[in-house]
Amino acid sequence: MKEIKIAPSILSADFSKMGEEVKSLEESGADLVHCDVMDGVFVNNITFGIKMVEDLRKITSLPLDCHLMIVEPQKYVERFVKAGADIVTVHAEACKERLKDTLMLIKDAGAKCGAVINPDTPVSAISKVLPLSDMVLVMSVFPGFGGQKFIPEVLEKVRELRSLAEENGWNFDIEIDGGISPSNAAEVKSAGANVLVAGSAVFKAPDRRQAIEALRKN
Ligand code: DX5
Ligand code: ZN
Repeated sequence: MKEIKIAPSILSADFSKMGEEVKSLEESGADLVHCDVMDGVFVNNITFGIKMVEDLRKITSLPLDCHLMIVEPQKYVERFVKAGADIVTVHAEACKERLKDTLMLIKDAGAKCGAVINPDTPVSAISKVLPLSDMVLVMSVFPGFGGQKFIPEVLEKVRELRSLAEENGWNFDIEIDGGISPSNAAEVKSAGANVLVAGSAVFKAPDRRQAIEALRKN
């Protein structure tokens, strides 16, 4: 069994005090900081970019897990790594035939790499890159906004990925993102996910430490 890691998404943080928000995640026992980068083209929302990663790098030692919801990610991945990203994930739907090359750019720049699939994208869309992936991110909502409802059908893909990893001796983490809360944490983990992203479930909780513990232990 792979170690369970909790990755709160700063999409749900108060952007006017991002430094304090990230410090509070550190104090609450988060394992990673999930940074949702949106360009207003790949998804219907705009968040932040390279400069945010660069500035967060100076104030936290937690790994920065950068989820790029942008078109043509190959143009930017090296700059995200240079800014301090530890993990960079890119969407199969955005990279298309460039997926493998984009993952290699991330790796060569010195970070961990991963492919992301939307709820309606099959595992077969990323099968060629699984051997070189450090992480696979399965979206359990359509990306763009926090606070959406979890789509349970995606768990079938999590199971498929976990058995592919076991059969082939691949070592990637399986991350799940969207609508994750203490109430579905157990089922996503038993399907085989070991990195749980949670925006609202952490930031809207009265006690962040307790929320992170519940996600980890439930
Ligand atoms: C959705 C983002 C998620 C989102 C998760 O586009 O990729 O990381 O912030 O937020 P919750 O946990 O509120 O669904
Ligand atoms: Zn995300």
